Amino acid sequence: MSGFVKVARCDEIPPGTVRMFEVNGKEIAVYNVDGAYYATTNICPHQGGPLAEGTLEGRTIVCPWHAWAFDVVSGSSPVNPRAKIETYPVRLEGKDIFIDA
Ligand code: FES
Repeated sequence: MSGFVKVARCDEIPPGTVRMFEVNGKEIAVYNVDGAYYATTNICPHQGGPLAEGTLEGRTIVCPWHAWAFDVVSGSSPVNPRAKIETYPVRLEGKDIFIDA
């Protein structure tokens, strides 16, 4: 199943923070990077760590388990070209955030 699903209001994810939501049965991490919202899988490709519990530094999320890092906009890793996380489209309608996952 796919299609945009409302996950949160904008004020529930302040700038510089990340939260996890379940969308269509998938764990999705939703990030606020200076007022712009991005979505990726919540599951780190290394050993399955929960990215939404990691540290968001600018547009880079650092996994809480072993510190692998990913660009939340592109999904790519700044250090390992073979490590990539899936990204998902985000749409804003008024103060509501919708994710297509
Ligand atoms: S599980 Fe994410 S870095 Fe190891």
